[in-house]
Amino acid sequence: MSSALESEILRDVWYLVIPGQQLKRGQTLGKMLLGQSVLLGRDTNGEVFAMRDICPHRGIPLSHGRFDGREIECCYHGWRFNCAGACTHIPSLLPTQKFDLDRVLVHRFPCREVQGNVWVFMAEDELSLPDPLPVIPVIPDVDASHLRLVERSLFPCSIDHAVVGLMDPAHGPFVHRSWWWRSQKSMHQKSKEFTPSHWGFTMLRHRPSSNSKAYKLFGNVSTEIRFELPSTRIEHIIAGKHRIVGLTTLTPLTDSQVELHQIFYWTIPWLTLARPLIRPFVRQFIEQDRDVIDKQQQGLNEDPQLILINDADKPARWYHQLKKELKQSRAENRPFNNPVPQTTLHWCS
Ligand code: FES
Ligand SMILES: [Fe+2]
Repeated sequence: MSSALESEILRDVWYLVIPGQQLKRGQTLGKMLLGQSVLLGRDTNGEVFAMRDICPHRGIPLSHGRFDGREIECCYHGWRFNCAGACTHIPSLLPTQKFDLDRVLVHRFPCREVQGNVWVFMAEDELSLPDPLPVIPVIPDVDASHLRLVERSLFPCSIDHAVVGLMDPAHGPFVHRSWWWRSQKSMHQKSKEFTPSHWGFTMLRHRPSSNSKAYKLFGNVSTEIRFELPSTRIEHIIAGKHRIVGLTTLTPLTDSQVELHQIFYWTIPWLTLARPLIRPFVRQFIEQDRDVIDKQQQGLNEDPQLILINDADKPARWYHQLKKELKQSRAENRPFNNPVPQTTLHWCS
């Protein structure tokens, strides 16, 4: 693992790794997470688990093996492991050959399924987990049964640039220019109130901008947007008695590749019927972000000095301050002191 990866990526936090519906009972799946090979799985009881995707015998990924819903059998010499990572059987051992199976253990990562998504806790030090573990961000007003739409994309950049791009309020009219969302002509001054919240900040409830056209489908709506470390954005839209909640997460796979999940929950029946029509627009929106990150990388490869301005780049500054404070408060073993002020930001977009 490179030192760049260590310096940029927050550990001792939960990362969303996969929407639960994509991991069936009796299935395992190998996945890169923060530069580590991780085996995800769901046992016959429906419980999810995550462990290192490396056989402790000779190092082959366990994801190449067989899983019967209870145990994973390595494809190389058939060693078997239960879902807690404990070795249960070594076929080549004779009954007379004493060997303590307890010596063989695959590292297990804390793994939970919450509101329809699977999260994995990536520890700073695997031998001493924080107690209690931090909480997984709660998506307000909905449960797994309201999860309606999932899109995924890979961004070819570091986690910091992906998060800053996600929370950047000024790129809309340029990157997301389209008949159904924004035009450059409609740019105008905006003022939004922000407040510190948990490990991040919240843009307080407001009526969406008149130039964000897609909101108009839902009539009289209001929205609130929360960001939380390490890389979670939750947009909570109230449309009369209905709710639409967008969960956006960024998960670092390596130091130069980030996986984005855009997940929508809603309670509006007609929207579920319209899902095949909506999906291409969500896709296009995400691809616009991905394309611009791709182009940005051409310049970042030369490691230029960058400029952050007021107020449009304040969320980017806050992100860096929040990250620094989380690391510092842990190093000093003191409570987290949210550095974000209660304030109003003004910008044009
Ligand atoms: S490498 Fe897995 S059993 Fe030998
Ligand atoms: Fe965007």
